[in-house]
Amino acid sequence: MRAVVYDRYGRPDVLRIENLPKPSPAAREVLVKVAATSVNLSDWETLRGSPLYSRIGGLRSPARRTLGSDIGGWVDAVGPAVTRFQPGDEVYGDNLMLKGGFAEYAIAPESTLARKPAALTFAEASTIPQAGVIAWQGTEGARAGHRVLINGAGGGSGSFAIQLAKRLGAHVTGVDNAGKLEFMRSVGADAVIDYRRDDFTRTGPYDLILDLVAHRSVFAYRRALASGGRYRCVGGSVGALLRVLTVGSLTGRLTHRRLGVLAVKEGPTHFAPVADLCVSGDLGIHIDRTFTLDEVPAALAWVGEGRARGKVVVSVT
Ligand SMILES: NC(=O)c1ccc[n+]([C@@H]2O[C@H](COP(=O)([O-])OP(=O)(O)OC[C@H]3O[C@@H](n4cnc5c(N)ncnc54)[C@H](OP(=O)(O)O)[C@@H]3O)[C@@H](O)[C@H]2O)c1
Repeated sequence: MRAVVYDRYGRPDVLRIENLPKPSPAAREVLVKVAATSVNLSDWETLRGSPLYSRIGGLRSPARRTLGSDIGGWVDAVGPAVTRFQPGDEVYGDNLMLKGGFAEYAIAPESTLARKPAALTFAEASTIPQAGVIAWQGTEGARAGHRVLINGAGGGSGSFAIQLAKRLGAHVTGVDNAGKLEFMRSVGADAVIDYRRDDFTRTGPYDLILDLVAHRSVFAYRRALASGGRYRCVGGSVGALLRVLTVGSLTGRLTHRRLGVLAVKEGPTHFAPVADLCVSGDLGIHIDRTFTLDEVPAALAWVGEGRARGKVVVSVT
């Protein structure tokens, strides 16, 4: 099978295509013939080996040779203990631990997969598991009358999060670079901020902040929150995440605000409700560009270097 591999952290030019033997699933694993894999910022971070949390399991060199978590495809073979799937089933899921989606076949634990809704294409389904769940859990608690701010809102998770917060009735402000302001408005943001021009922490107060790319001080985040407000970050610099976990939670408690890092709960029970909203048309899927397997370096750069508006997909088959 053809697979995009790398052996050291670096820029997209460390990636190459190799012909590898088709893998065999272990007892509770499924071999998926990959149709499409969406790109997440976590793929770019694991390619670069930065922030440091992307090196968990592989401090000096990558733990997995093939990136690509969010897969959609057909079940090709199943391990002897698999009960929910059989060859031919159309599935999708977030294979964050094993990755391997930038290849013709990928091994995924049965527990990470769900049946693909017939109404969604493989490309569409592959955009949902990671970004959709971050958006769903990140906007939990938003409601009518709330002012919600999403930092990094023009990318994959952000484009879902804007829509979900709007559905809950909130007034939504999206923050991203100037090239994504119009896109954020088009998916529903009431207000937009160019992070290279304005500091959102001086524009509040907000009742809920979902931060996809945290890097500011805890005091700036606290300043941006209304009394009783909540700040949640899911990614960013290690320093910022550690500050939020330590000083942030204490400062928050002392000032009637809550600051924390959201450890996203993964899996079908969490992403299926997001997919249901996509099927019913209540949530739109925004695919900015589709690349081929040979173009994976360009696909990763498109996301990592900040050009993607919404999601990017690699069409494998
Ligand atoms: N906590 C968990 O359990 C968990 C699980 C999975 C993933 N994650 C993390 O979740 C994050 C979500 O990623 P995603 O896939 O939605 O990313 P994405 O599609 O790349 O979107 C991130 C957006 O943030 C923008 N951005 C970059 N720097 C910014 C800044 N200083 N201020 C405002 N916006 C900025 C980017 O644009 P430009 O770069 O063009 O400016 C991009 O549009 C990742 O960091 C990932 O590691 C967390």
